[in-house]
Amino acid sequence: MSSGLGNAAVRDVETLVHPYTNLDSFRTTGPMIIERGEGIYVWDAEGRRYIEGLSGLWCTALGYSEAELIEAAHAQMREIPFTHMFGGKSHERAAELAEKIKALSPHPTSKVLFCGSGSEANDQQMKLVWYYNNARGRPQKKKFISRQRGYHGVTVASGSLTGLPANHRDFDLPIAGVLHTDCPHYYRYAEPGESEEEFSTRLAANLENMILQEGPDTVAAFIAEPVMGAGGVVIPPEGYFEKVQAVLSRYDIYFIVDEVICGFGRTGNMFGSQTFGLRPDSISVAKALSSAYAPIAAVTIGEDMYQAMLDESRKIGVFGHGFTYTAHPVAAAVAAKTLEIYEKRNIVGHVRELAPKFEARVARLSQHALVGHARAKGLIGAIELVADKGSKRMFDVKAGVANTVVASAQEDGLIVRALAGDIVAFCPPLIIQDEQIDAMFDAVERALDKTEAHVRKEGLRG
Ligand SMILES: Cc1ncc(COP(=O)(O)O)c(C=O)c1O
Repeated sequence: MSSGLGNAAVRDVETLVHPYTNLDSFRTTGPMIIERGEGIYVWDAEGRRYIEGLSGLWCTALGYSEAELIEAAHAQMREIPFTHMFGGKSHERAAELAEKIKALSPHPTSKVLFCGSGSEANDQQMKLVWYYNNARGRPQKKKFISRQRGYHGVTVASGSLTGLPANHRDFDLPIAGVLHTDCPHYYRYAEPGESEEEFSTRLAANLENMILQEGPDTVAAFIAEPVMGAGGVVIPPEGYFEKVQAVLSRYDIYFIVDEVICGFGRTGNMFGSQTFGLRPDSISVAKALSSAYAPIAAVTIGEDMYQAMLDESRKIGVFGHGFTYTAHPVAAAVAAKTLEIYEKRNIVGHVRELAPKFEARVARLSQHALVGHARAKGLIGAIELVADKGSKRMFDVKAGVANTVVASAQEDGLIVRALAGDIVAFCPPLIIQDEQIDAMFDAVERALDKTEAHVRKEGLRG
């Protein structure tokens, strides 16, 4: 039983299963209830204000009080709160949003298929690739390659694509036919003396060997985030995607770019694909698509894929896929308004203007005794904490050093997130202003100092 908790906390503990939470310790700690938000700030139930330094879950790009989005939802609710898309039914917001996505897409896009979440988007990607290769008479070409530490969601398919042990263990994942190649984290996985370019060459060669070993006729697709998010904010090393894409095109492998975090301005271009020179066959988008004000996601479909889908309909009839909430009108209206705001307020320009400041404040953290590596691109970044900078030796996982930094920052009015590997991630709303970046990183520096004192006091360096 949960003792020592207030009423609201007890109700929470006794009624909810919380995602990504230690269900056992949660019974003692209870929830942090967020009550309201404004701009980049949120307030908890005790009235304490925090900078939301991770935009919720890398998603509330326009902050917490965007009146135009609230009004778009209200207006759509009043007009028609729900209509589905099955059997050719439709509504105007769906096509309006699809047109906007097509116009922005970093690859020639013929059609857009909506769904409710990033996981569903990547699930759809897998089904579409299987469907496509059946339509094209290549029933053997079905395997997916993703990357260790990649994050693509938690459904059976997308959770298999995800390359993090915590998402597989005891869930009986990954499913057959999903392979994981190397994580392109140069700081952590480069061999002694290896340059970034050499590291990228080695990883591309490993990918090619995996494809050859499996048989190129059995490998259908490769999926990657431009910047890995939940796996540790891993920024691709020099030459990496260029070399990987050369391998993919040699073996006719469909390239899915998971833009769920990077999409819509985060890295200083509309898409991470543009920032890092990726040539996707399809992208998955979610999160900032609606600034997280409503759950909606999508995959883009090229003409060749669409023609194959048409062929299937001619052969077998109905396209047997879709959700009750595919292109939900309220979510679609909010997303269309979100994209309109990105354009009219030049959010990408704003990110580019602030990125040098953000990147410099992250880089400065590398001077701290606890920080082995600091990295950032646009308005996303992270620090990696180590027990010893020279050898990059990590702290004992049980010491929870990144969690201590996060807890200290939270006491000081900043929400950031700890990721596996003692990494602390930063991803504020894109509307953040110059002096708010200073406030955010001043709090991070104070949290690092407090954590360093704790590490010394407890002798955590071993
Ligand atoms: C890159 C990426 N892809 C997919 C997902 C899954 O999205 P969702 O949590 O909406 O299912 C996430 C979520 O964090 C993500 O970061």
